Parts: sequence; C-alpha cells; structure tokens
Amino acid sequence: MLVDLTVLTHQRVTRLHCDGDNLTMYDLPPLPCYLNGEFTLLPDAKISVMDRGFIFGDGVYEAVPVYLGRPFRFAQHMQRLARSLAELRLPNPLTGDQWQQLVADLSARYAQSVGADPQSLDQLVYIQITRGVAMRDHAMPAQCTPTVFAVSNRLSAPSPLQRSEGVACVSADDFRWEKAHIKSTSLLGAVFARQISVDAGVVETVMFRDNYLSEAASSNVWVVKDGVLMGPPRDNLKLEGIRYGLIEELCQALGLTLKLRPIHRDEVARADELLLSSATKEVLPITVLDDKPVGGGKPGPVYHALYAAYQAAKAQGVAQPVATFAPTSD
Ligand SMILES: Cc1ncc(COP(=O)(O)O)c(C=O)c1O
Repeated sequence: MLVDLTVLTHQRVTRLHCDGDNLTMYDLPPLPCYLNGEFTLLPDAKISVMDRGFIFGDGVYEAVPVYLGRPFRFAQHMQRLARSLAELRLPNPLTGDQWQQLVADLSARYAQSVGADPQSLDQLVYIQITRGVAMRDHAMPAQCTPTVFAVSNRLSAPSPLQRSEGVACVSADDFRWEKAHIKSTSLLGAVFARQISVDAGVVETVMFRDNYLSEAASSNVWVVKDGVLMGPPRDNLKLEGIRYGLIEELCQALGLTLKLRPIHRDEVARADELLLSSATKEVLPITVLDDKPVGGGKPGPVYHALYAAYQAAKAQGVAQPVATFAPTSD
C-alpha cells in the first residue's frame, strides 16, 4: 500500500512517503522563494487547496537558467511566458522589469543562502503562474487573482561523463495532448513519458506521434544526417524550447544547414547524430537509442561544434552588465 503524508510543523514541511515497509522522510530544502508578492522559504510557502493550479493544473511556468548572475535568453523566456499566458487567457501579472527584478532578487537570495556570490553560481529560476483560487468549476472564472510563485536553485548540469560519452534514451509513442506548445503545468503526460525512461534506466524518452518525431519528455530533439541538422517544425504538438531560436542562431554563425521539417521515425533510426536540448541539458548527444548505438555511438562533430558555440553564447551573456544583484527589502 502506498501512503503519502504531509506533516506540517511550525517551521517546515516534512513529507513522509511510505511504500510497503519502507519509510523514507525528507525535508523540503529551505530555498528562498517568492509567493504572491512576498519572499519566504520553500517549506513555509503555502497556497489554497482550491488553487486552480492544484485542482486543474490550470497554470503555466518557465525555467530560466541564470549563469553567474545573468539570466540567459531572458527576453525569449518572457516572450514564451506571454504566449503561454495568452493561450490560457490570463493577463501577465508582472511587467518585464518586475520579472527581471524578481529573477535578480531570487538568485541573489539563493546565493546569499548558500554563502556564495551570485556571480559565482549557475542557477535555475522556476516561475509558475496559476489562474488562482476559486470554487471548483472547469469553466474559467471571470474574476480570479493569479497565484505567482518562483524559486531558484542550483542548476544541475549534465555530468562530464554524459558530455564525453553522450546519453542513452528510449522511444515511445507521444500520447500527450494537442496543445503541447503551451508551457503548461498540466504535465501528467510528461510525467508518464519521463517515467518510461526512468524505468528503463536512461535519460530521456524520445516521442513519436504517428511515426513522426515530436520531442522528448522535457527536451527538444535534433537529428543530424550528412552534416545537416534537422528539427521538427514549430507547431502545437511540441514545446518550442528557447533553444530553437538559439540553435538557429548558432547554426547560422557556424555555417551549418538547419532544416525544420517533419522527421520520420526511420530517419531518426538512421541518424548520424541525435541531440537533446533544454535549459539544463543545453545540447546533449544521444549516443544510444532503444539499446542501439546512434551513428558511431559517440558524440559527433555537429554536437561538438554546437556545444562550443553554445558555451561561447553563454560567455557572451555573462559578459553583459546586469541591472541589479542586491536583494530588495521585503
Ligand atoms: C516538453 C519540453 N520540450 C522541450 C523543452 C526544452 O525547452 P527549453 O529549451 O526552453 O528548456 C522542455 C523544457 O522543459 C520541455 O518540457
């Protein structure tokens, strides 16, 4: 029998997970976070049980990498957030400047909490907006105050071994819904998809819809054949990662041909190289798919070129001045 208990104490939330005879316990880490206009610590942040994010997954999110204190591709993250909010018919609760201040604040607070300088750490700032609190009714309530939540944590990057050897993935049918372009907190399909790879002991699940490549559970997927990089087209069946635009720019700078077009399962099976991309993975080679080597079974030249160009783009972003580092007062 599975039992999940949440024990609230005055200072922290302790979750007890009981799986048969095995009882494990963990505390939410005391990460600085933001909830509806106030800064607090993660264990102390509370929302209503009637929040539509909790009841319906009625919300959107973003995950913004912050390298050495500078948000990377921040404008693009904000544009995608605005697109997701518009799909949900939600007004943006903060202005661009307010989001920027919030991300700067949170990353400064996180750095402070671990006794480090923000300019010495890579972080990932998670932002979530839900429609807010209302009595349960599927229809969108006319008046609702959005719930705004954000938290920063250390960015966990692929290991040196994953970089040098590449990673293994499995494939599966894409059983998710047809609005995968919205960065929505309704993520049960992604949870199922990711678990397929966890159960197989690999890094990601590469998904196909009607035999055409869509994306992975939480990454985009790229195919290299004869020196040409290919990605599935932007449409409603996949999330346009922030790396779509970045990879377009990097290919242009590198003189690499990039084609966005439907990619059949057979082309993926015959690829010279396969790559994943996401905020945390950046670009990462898939060297084994469904227990078979991809191309030569090693990270290939297109990966190496893109990875180097990616690091250069990060370094360029880090070199730019940043508006503010200091936490504002509460
Ligand atoms: C389904 C899905 N596709 C693609 C991506 C990659 O997006 P990005 O490059 O913005 O991290 C993500 C990231 O979380 C994702 O969840």
